[in-house]
Amino acid sequence: MLDEIKKIEQSAKEALKNTQNLDDFERVRIEFLGRKGALSLLLRALKDLPEHERRTMGGLANRLRHDLEELFFEKEKILKHSIIEDSLKKEWIDITRPGIRRARGHQHPLSIIRGEIEDIFQQLGFSTIEGPEVEEEFYNFDALNVPKNHPARDLQDTFWIKSPSSKRILLRTHTSPVQIRYMRTHNPPFRIIAPGRVFRHEATDASHEFQFYQIEGLMVGRRGEAGGEISVANFKGIMAEFFRRFFKSHDLKVQLRPAYFPFVEPGFEMYISCRACNGKGCSICKRSGWIEILGAGMVHQNVFKASGYNPTEVRGFAFGMAIDRLAMMKYKIPDIRLFHSGDMRFLKQF
Ligand code: DAH
Repeated sequence: MLDEIKKIEQSAKEALKNTQNLDDFERVRIEFLGRKGALSLLLRALKDLPEHERRTMGGLANRLRHDLEELFFEKEKILKHSIIEDSLKKEWIDITRPGIRRARGHQHPLSIIRGEIEDIFQQLGFSTIEGPEVEEEFYNFDALNVPKNHPARDLQDTFWIKSPSSKRILLRTHTSPVQIRYMRTHNPPFRIIAPGRVFRHEATDASHEFQFYQIEGLMVGRRGEAGGEISVANFKGIMAEFFRRFFKSHDLKVQLRPAYFPFVEPGFEMYISCRACNGKGCSICKRSGWIEILGAGMVHQNVFKASGYNPTEVRGFAFGMAIDRLAMMKYKIPDIRLFHSGDMRFLKQF
């Protein structure tokens, strides 16, 4: 029996020494200390011993159990601790290491400029509205007083769309048709702008695209009402304020020159003092000091009539300008085709 106790003690210590992980440990623990383990069998065998021997052996066996329990307890602590140590080593994160920068998208330069324009006009009391890019001939030409034989209606200038209905359909060549759509559904006084894409069937070069963006403006008042007698002076003042804010230049000057557009009378082109030379004259403004920036005028009586208004009761101005050109001037972009090139080297600058 004594041999037996010694053998158990030795092999338990040996087995415990060799356990590397908790699984091994548990297997060894059951083997020696489990209910059917070596020690239990030994203790159970005690009852077959003679009285005096049972006492001494019982004492030794219990002592062994106590010692082994202690040893196992310590070993378990060490194993658990080393597991934590290991994972601390393996899962260590260097929080001072530079991170991976995620590629972030951003607005297209034309969208940035469009947003800036809308913000300024909103400050000046204008609301933003939109109209369709696929338009009826009536809104794009007829209602705007464009003569039936006007060259703009030619196949060379306009993208016509095959249509099964009697209405002739096209891609709008300007944002002016939004004026008609708005006036047919709203009464003055109002001030609106209508930004959007327009299409022209023409060859492209550094300053021409077959699609580009315009902003239309329309302010109409009721004659006889306070502030309703909208004048050319109102127009010039509002636009001068707009351009000063847009180009962040207090000394920017505007100038009107007579021009013909079928939907206005009188019609003008507006010029601003050249941004490159501040009006002194340079190669960009061809030594004139002025840059043509938009078309405008006082809304034509026929346009009011086509919109369902009585032209003697209302008065207003309208204007249209190219967003692409404003963006090119502000950012000094030399070629309009860059906007739709998809070239990231270009786009990432904004
Ligand atoms: N629709 C004209 C164009 O595309 C621009 C324009 C001129 C708009 C005069 C207007 C205007 O509202 O009054 O060239």
